[in-house]
Amino acid sequence: MMSNDLPQLPGLKGTRIVLGVCGGIAAYKSAELVRLLTKQGCAVQVVMTPSATQFIAPLTFQALSGRAVAVSQWPEGQADRGMPHIDISRACDHLLIAPCTANSLAKYVHGIADNLLDNLVLARNCPVAIVPAMNVEMWNNPATQRNVEQARRDGLQVFGPAHGEQACGEVGQGRMLEPWEIVWELAKARSTQTLTGQHVVVSAGPTFEAIDPVRGITNRSSGKMGYAIAQAAWLAGAKVTLVSGPTALATPYGVQRVNVQGARDMHSAVLGLVPQAQAYVGVAAVADYGILNPSTHKQKKSDASPTGLNMEFTLNPDILAEVGQWATEHSPRFKVIGFAAETQNLADYAQQKLVRKKAHAIVANFAQEVLGADEATLQIYRTDLPPVTIERKPKLEAALDLIHHLFSHP
Ligand code: C5P
Repeated sequence: MMSNDLPQLPGLKGTRIVLGVCGGIAAYKSAELVRLLTKQGCAVQVVMTPSATQFIAPLTFQALSGRAVAVSQWPEGQADRGMPHIDISRACDHLLIAPCTANSLAKYVHGIADNLLDNLVLARNCPVAIVPAMNVEMWNNPATQRNVEQARRDGLQVFGPAHGEQACGEVGQGRMLEPWEIVWELAKARSTQTLTGQHVVVSAGPTFEAIDPVRGITNRSSGKMGYAIAQAAWLAGAKVTLVSGPTALATPYGVQRVNVQGARDMHSAVLGLVPQAQAYVGVAAVADYGILNPSTHKQKKSDASPTGLNMEFTLNPDILAEVGQWATEHSPRFKVIGFAAETQNLADYAQQKLVRKKAHAIVANFAQEVLGADEATLQIYRTDLPPVTIERKPKLEAALDLIHHLFSHP
């Protein structure tokens, strides 16, 4: 996924971010971060440590953020500015420090405040997220590891670091996350964490029932709704495994994806995963029938009889119903959620599916409105509550509403 592909992420529009930039080579990437945050509708105030200005000029950030960059506690000729460390930190919804060096991290953990940014961290009354960036040996150093542990215990959010090639030429843990990844992490840090500690399995997309090695029967599911649900569950704090039929979509950020083709592959992948999970959301458009004995070689026109091609179909397993049955027998607290794209009688069909599939909820929508679209209206039918409608909105927003609705009620 490229940074330009970021959709509008929840919880960012109108947010006042103070972006602290420390003195590390990754500081150059923070320029792109300012651009992405601004594009999300955040108001960004950049604060640099004095050593950060050795790596990148404050003017670069000033131009991108549209605000003067703060560096010093003692701004020359600005005696009227009051107390910058208090003023700036009180006008902030989230303090984001990227890159965060080993030295700055050590200072935050020990409450040392000998530059403006350190003072801000100490004086803040909003959440703070750090994005470490340093050489692999500096990261692995026991002092840094102790500090990062302590930072977590103190309630600092820690994004990354990633493993990979470093500016010094070495390879290992310590690379700063890419700017677009930092934006996702920030969106998660600002989302309600309804699913912390839970593993959610989501199935999405169409299935592909092979006729021969090159041909098959599939359907018009784009996978967008299932991918949005997987992404929303990650934003809400879950570990997410997405079992996906063939789609053209990028893997949602933070989500582990398992690719499958036919309904039977999807069935074994899902059934293999659910015993380690706490919920299953079946959004995939699973083919009800597969081809009995698909040909191992490409079928030729000459293979067909003059009257046409004969194929025998076989009934596929109903994945959702099997998960519903398994949960009823083995794990009553496991949540089973199904989808129903219908062309008519939404309420009747959804109620029937609730019973037939032993699901906790069925989310219904009109197939003609939803297939391939970027927005969705969702009607939620549950065994324990009256139906609820989520009005038409972008699929990621609808998915987040759905996740919070389903998982914040016991
Ligand atoms: O049975 P029907 O296709 O109408 O129900 C739709 C729901 O059931 C969706 O959640 C879909 O993922 C799931 N399903 C399934 N296995 C099938 C058919 C549908 O899991 N073979």
